[in-house]
Amino acid sequence: MRHTTFRQLEIFEAIARLGSFTRASEELFLTQPTVSMQMKKLTETVGAPLVEQVGKRLRLTEAGRELAQASREIFAILDRFTMSVADQKGLKKGHLRLMAITTASYFAPRLLGDFAKLYPDIEVSLRVTNKEQVLASMAEHLDDLYLLGTPPDQIDVVATPIMDNPIVVLAAPGHPLAGKKRIPLARLAREPWLMREAGSGTRKAIEGLFHAHGLDIRPRLELGSNEAIKQAILAELGISALSRHVLALNQPDQFTVLDAEDFPIRRHWYAVYPAARQPTPVVRAFLDFLLGREGPKAALSTP
Ligand code: PGA
Repeated sequence: MRHTTFRQLEIFEAIARLGSFTRASEELFLTQPTVSMQMKKLTETVGAPLVEQVGKRLRLTEAGRELAQASREIFAILDRFTMSVADQKGLKKGHLRLMAITTASYFAPRLLGDFAKLYPDIEVSLRVTNKEQVLASMAEHLDDLYLLGTPPDQIDVVATPIMDNPIVVLAAPGHPLAGKKRIPLARLAREPWLMREAGSGTRKAIEGLFHAHGLDIRPRLELGSNEAIKQAILAELGISALSRHVLALNQPDQFTVLDAEDFPIRRHWYAVYPAARQPTPVVRAFLDFLLGREGPKAALSTP
């Protein structure tokens, strides 16, 4: 492997991550023949195929998977080194690849925007996606830090609570329960509920609360996004409970927050990284920023 170049590993890592030679060549601004040639050389050095074509899809072989993992570790070590040298010089330089679960998209861009203004030399990126992809990315160490409502238990992680995530009961203005004080859970359970999809952290928290009181709520509609639920509430199809953060861009009187017993459910948002991965100086700077030790505290306030 001594004749392998970093460029070859970089190309291979991109192919492994993107599952395509074409997309890897686009990302790295290389021509396809260059990518193919470098892959051929790398395969010869390794002495075993790294990828195989299955139908139309490209799949990593066992050796390919191991090399992809090794490449990421090598690049992570180099990244850490580069950033720590910059850090010693008092510069905050490097990159921060952030991944957020969909519900966190209501505040993650604002936080990242404020951080980027504070550290203009740090390159930031944000991917917003579902739980499954967050877990996959975490297992493969694709991103630096993850913003989640529920730290995973399948992977050993370091999870820092960064912000409150209160789950509140929402109804359309003028709903018969609007203005009532301390509505009992048993009364709420009789309403038609609009629920997020199975697997949603918000849904789990709501079901957990009702179950703990021996109550069941039967969803009238199951909708895969917070925005779809908000639309259905406004269409007076039912009530729901969502993170208060989903109201960030709404007028204060657009929805009624019902005064219900045992609500809000008090949850948190977490910044999470795999325990096996040492955080880079940039990740640490972002965590410090999130915890309000540096930068504007206002970034942490809930709407
Ligand atoms: P969601 O929210 O899974 O309901 O989108 C994240 C979480 O609260 O775990």
